[in-house]
Amino acid sequence: MKILEKCGDEMHLLSRRPLDISVGDFLLIWDDLGSALLVQVVEETYLNVESSLMDAIREEVLKEDVQVDEEVSSFTPLSNIVRDLVMLRCKIRGSMKSGSFTPGIEHLPSRVSSKVEFMPLDRMLELIRQPSSRLIYLGRVGQQSPFYIPLESLDGALTIITGKKGSGKSHLAKLLVKELVQHHAKVVVLDINDEYKGIGYHSDGTPSPICNRIMRLEPTRNLRFTLDYIGKKGISDILCHALDLPTTSLRELLRIWDELVEYGRLTLSTLIEAISSRRVNEHIKDALLSRLLTLASTGFIATDLDEASKVETLFSKIEDGGALIVVLNRCSPILRRIVVEFLLSKLTQLLEQGRIPPCFLFAEEAHLYLRETYWEDIVTRMRHLGLFTTFITNQPDAVEECVYRQADNIFLFNFSSERDLEAIAKVSMVDGETLKSLVKHLPPRYCLAVGRQTVNLPIVFRCAEVDALMEGETKLFFPTLLLNKRGSTDI
Ligand SMILES: Nc1ncnc2c1ncn2[C@@H]1O[C@H](COP(=O)(O)OP(=O)(O)OP(=O)(O)O)[C@@H](O)[C@H]1O
Ligand SMILES: [Mg+2]
Repeated sequence: MKILEKCGDEMHLLSRRPLDISVGDFLLIWDDLGSALLVQVVEETYLNVESSLMDAIREEVLKEDVQVDEEVSSFTPLSNIVRDLVMLRCKIRGSMKSGSFTPGIEHLPSRVSSKVEFMPLDRMLELIRQPSSRLIYLGRVGQQSPFYIPLESLDGALTIITGKKGSGKSHLAKLLVKELVQHHAKVVVLDINDEYKGIGYHSDGTPSPICNRIMRLEPTRNLRFTLDYIGKKGISDILCHALDLPTTSLRELLRIWDELVEYGRLTLSTLIEAISSRRVNEHIKDALLSRLLTLASTGFIATDLDEASKVETLFSKIEDGGALIVVLNRCSPILRRIVVEFLLSKLTQLLEQGRIPPCFLFAEEAHLYLRETYWEDIVTRMRHLGLFTTFITNQPDAVEECVYRQADNIFLFNFSSERDLEAIAKVSMVDGETLKSLVKHLPPRYCLAVGRQTVNLPIVFRCAEVDALMEGETKLFFPTLLLNKRGSTDI
């Protein structure tokens, strides 16, 4: 194999067929100085011959003239061999020196004397393995090599899991949540399909050791809060952001709120009564009453202290690590927004006050309930305070661009739609070529990981099975058609 040229961050290599290299494989280009360039194949294509490239081509072809060409020369004209030459487009991923890897290029290897060597995947994984006492098993790379990532790569990080429907995103998210809980982390899951509760059980249905650390919380049933606990800030956030109350009306409400607090009479019904009997602008009154009546009708506000929750109390129940699974599937869209608005507002406040420790948030299909301004808040302020979010979505263009730009880890499952690929390629840390070549043809359950967890090298792995009760499968009318539970053709 010979170096043909360097174009930007790509190396183009020339080789004869047949070739035992596939897209996604890693190669080392060794120079005479004992260092090597690590490249990843992103495309295998034919060579378009131009006269300026003939020297390199001739050298590669004639190199083996003794064994091969003697045999073929009488039948195969040189031009045929040249026409059959393969060009490998490879992305430069970094350099290797004295057995260690650094991103970036130290120097260009010689076009004349450098040697290209295949980098086996298990050696590759060894190279990127980070020192950690919390390595978690995510699956297999290539034929057999086990793929581990340090759990610390999720700590303080923003992670995105995306891919088309049914490709295995939630499965991977559950694996991560389970590992986090087993390693004593605290996790909040916004569960849109009520599918995470099974992580506390083995696949045969028996409880696992983390069973009593998984709490399923259903808004209006065992997740309700008193008005007093929600507080002025919480109610303002709910009314303005989840129920679109204009700020002028909010000011009036807060005045009444203060008066009721002063007399020790603050409840949702006294608030509604006070507004109804107050002499204020009719528009303001209507705006306030309609929002408060909507809030009352959701059942999210607890009147009885015994049935009211407190976020810090819930956290104290998972002191040794655990997951608070907030089930949103039975909530109306309005209630979902109210719940998420309040929880994020409260978590931020408690983190700010140091009353709860840093924690992980897993948000499934967040565009369904997250208001626009929260995207930026989550990736900047909330992360700084100790809320480390993982977004899981099958609509990559529904996630704000700023989220991709700031992501530390990305897990990409299959995307066949060009539009979705373009959306991610534009903004994510994976370049467009790599994305299109590696992600487009990924079978279900295979995933491209890139970011902190892989030292920024794009690695394709087959996601491991999880010993948990897996729920949330799409219900089918003809379920028997889903023959191959583990396989590749059922989705
Ligand atoms: N690595 C895996 N091993 C075994 N089963 C898997 C694996 N990945 C996914 N599955 C199964 O495939 C089905 C679809 O997976 P999953 O629910 O994770 O897809 P999804 O990408 O979240 O889909 P959706 O976009 O509909 O939410 C589930 O029944 C899941 O248990
Ligand atoms: Mg899912």
